[in-house]
Amino acid sequence: MFTVKNNFSVNEASTTLVVGLFEKTASFEGILGDVNSALGDSLATLVKEGDVSAKKGVVSKVHTLGKLEAKRIYFVGLGKENQFSFETARSSFGKLFKACKNAKLEEIEIVLDSFVTDKVDASDVAHALGEALPLATYKFADYKQKSNEPTKEISSVVVYTEQDKEEVDASLTVGYIYGKGTNSARTLVNTPANMLTATDLAHYAVELATKYELEYEILDKEEMENLGMGALLAVNKGSVEPPKMIVIKYQGKDEWTDVIGLVGKGITYDSGGYSIKPKDGLVGMKTDMGGAAAVLGAMEIIAELKPEQNVVMVIPSTDNMISGNAFKPDDVVTSMSGKTIEILNTDAEGRLALADAVTYAKHHGANYIVDVATLTGGVIIALGNHITGAMTNNEALFERVLEASNEVGEMIWRLPITDKFKERVRKSNVADLNNSPGRDGHAIFAGLFIGEFAEETPWVHLDIAGTATSSSEYDLGPSGATGVMSRTLATLVERFGEE
Ligand code: BES
Ligand code: MN
Ligand code: ZN
Repeated sequence: MFTVKNNFSVNEASTTLVVGLFEKTASFEGILGDVNSALGDSLATLVKEGDVSAKKGVVSKVHTLGKLEAKRIYFVGLGKENQFSFETARSSFGKLFKACKNAKLEEIEIVLDSFVTDKVDASDVAHALGEALPLATYKFADYKQKSNEPTKEISSVVVYTEQDKEEVDASLTVGYIYGKGTNSARTLVNTPANMLTATDLAHYAVELATKYELEYEILDKEEMENLGMGALLAVNKGSVEPPKMIVIKYQGKDEWTDVIGLVGKGITYDSGGYSIKPKDGLVGMKTDMGGAAAVLGAMEIIAELKPEQNVVMVIPSTDNMISGNAFKPDDVVTSMSGKTIEILNTDAEGRLALADAVTYAKHHGANYIVDVATLTGGVIIALGNHITGAMTNNEALFERVLEASNEVGEMIWRLPITDKFKERVRKSNVADLNNSPGRDGHAIFAGLFIGEFAEETPWVHLDIAGTATSSSEYDLGPSGATGVMSRTLATLVERFGEE
């Protein structure tokens, strides 16, 4: 896919040349200077006349009409140089690749150094480029008869740089791995629930683990019964599909200590159960395994990059359905931890599944736990569709998750925890906890419920109900599943391993 070359001269490029352009560039120097003279000193005029724009996020195409070997030039507007960031680089490349895809280009040649600034070095730019390509051009292989027709795709990206070739090449590859892992998560989320049962999800995990020679464990219903996973099993009761507890271990250290537990909600379809959702609320509930997809995407990235860190991934998986055998409001169930739970709402099923998964992650030695879940509509009301809600019992761990999320450009924002909220989760006449204290602040109740099972283990909760999908397309992807948190979690693990 990528070829890195040194010693660029302007007529070496023969396909589509891509150049970054900052606003108010006083004089065109270096490659820009060469391009400008080849175009007969017309670049300044093109900018002035508005045919080429240096504004952030604007991609302008100029045909070279035989003046250069390259057939056309794509100028990528980058805005003000002093405001340019890693994130701007990534989204600008996203715009570029979308434009290339629309134009059905198969080969492009990028002058990498035209994107490099004091703050964003060649390695950063290469990472952003490598990541943006798979993210921005991702398309879910849907089930339309027409979409089986082959389409033209970008298959070759030549990267020209005067910086260290190996370093740039390595960064391109790392970025590409991040993008690919995220796309795997997107595909899982986009897959209809009739094609992705808990059993299918378990198969996917086994294939992933086998490919990278990772240890795995898939618990079936009987094993769960023996372990007393009454919370997850309650959710599964109404289903004809057997539940699965899916575990993958990645060992990056000599000893199985200092283990990060990544726990992802794997509800393959959420009807709400007897507390059934209104008909509009049912549409889209195939995405209720977005947390599972996020941790699987992260595991793929981790398995590729092999950081020196131990990770245990745990996914509790089932659908939440209705039948004569289904669990009901007023039921009391006993979780694996021994804590009993009064069911007040069968649509608050995610926290039940996650309760046993968190306990099981600790059982597998997790010293830190990060859970990811499409948990509540409440978080969408609170934070909208581009910010993931976070909660924690440990400042230091939260800081590290926050840093990772900032690095990859996936925003998170913390929700508060108070004793009053905690009391509500523990209020029940018949059990230790209840699964639905009310609509007021319910994103917080849901998170706190999971925290009851993390207990003293440092824990961060990420509610991705709003961020797991996007209703419209954006620079780094189409509408549909976003694959959110795969990159944050993989980065968290990578940075942990660097200590
Ligand atoms: N899976 C839903 C949350 C959800 C809503 C995800 C919208 C994605 C988009 C979750 O299981 C749920 O039903 N939550 C309820 C909780 C309530 C019953 C306390 C909710 O948010 O209404
Ligand atoms: Mn629900
Ligand atoms: Zn749900």
